[in-house]
Amino acid sequence: MADTLVIYYSRKGENYAGGAVRSLAKGNTEIVAEYIAEITGADLFEVETVKTYSADYTKCTEEAKAELQADARPELKAYLDNLDAYENIVVAGPCWWGTYPMAVFTLLDRLDFDCKTVLPVMTHEGSGLAEAAKALKKHCHGAMVGPGLAIRGSEVEQAKPQIERWARQNRL
Ligand SMILES: Cc1cc2nc3c(=O)[nH]c(=O)nc-3n(C[C@H](O)[C@H](O)[C@H](O)COP(=O)(O)O)c2cc1C
Repeated sequence: MADTLVIYYSRKGENYAGGAVRSLAKGNTEIVAEYIAEITGADLFEVETVKTYSADYTKCTEEAKAELQADARPELKAYLDNLDAYENIVVAGPCWWGTYPMAVFTLLDRLDFDCKTVLPVMTHEGSGLAEAAKALKKHCHGAMVGPGLAIRGSEVEQAKPQIERWARQNRL
């Protein structure tokens, strides 16, 4: 078993990419998460909500804003029991209003991160890592938060060299 786990959330459907709203068959963060797994041999865990967000980009931004304002913890289709098998946990997600989608916190809040290293990865359209590291410090109890990686969603297909560099630097 790998000693690195990539926990990720990624939304398919309409998204803002390259200056326009486009429909994506695979979410940007999923592409990045799969690259990380391919490069490092990490295991993957996808955070999936019971409720589906609107495929319409604007409606989805409104739903996400309401969840952020309510500090919601959307129900997930599956949970992780523990992180015992892993040393490093990469938490990858899209930037939604400056932080991870609230569903990511539904999962993180239930886990014990004692003695683990947690690395933030965020895809975005301008905000970079935004509040990602701060959010992991708050929600990953007991973890050491390491250097993050921000990738513009519209550039994920070309991001492999950047991901490789970051993985090497962090000994993943
Ligand atoms: C609900 C919502 C909120 C977003 N908020 C931001 C934001 O605050 N800053 C930003 O740079 N991009 C924002 N975006 C763009 C996404 O972060 C970006 O397209 C990301 O790559 C999507 O990843 P995914 O395809 O894995 O879901 C937002 C997108 C959505 C759907």
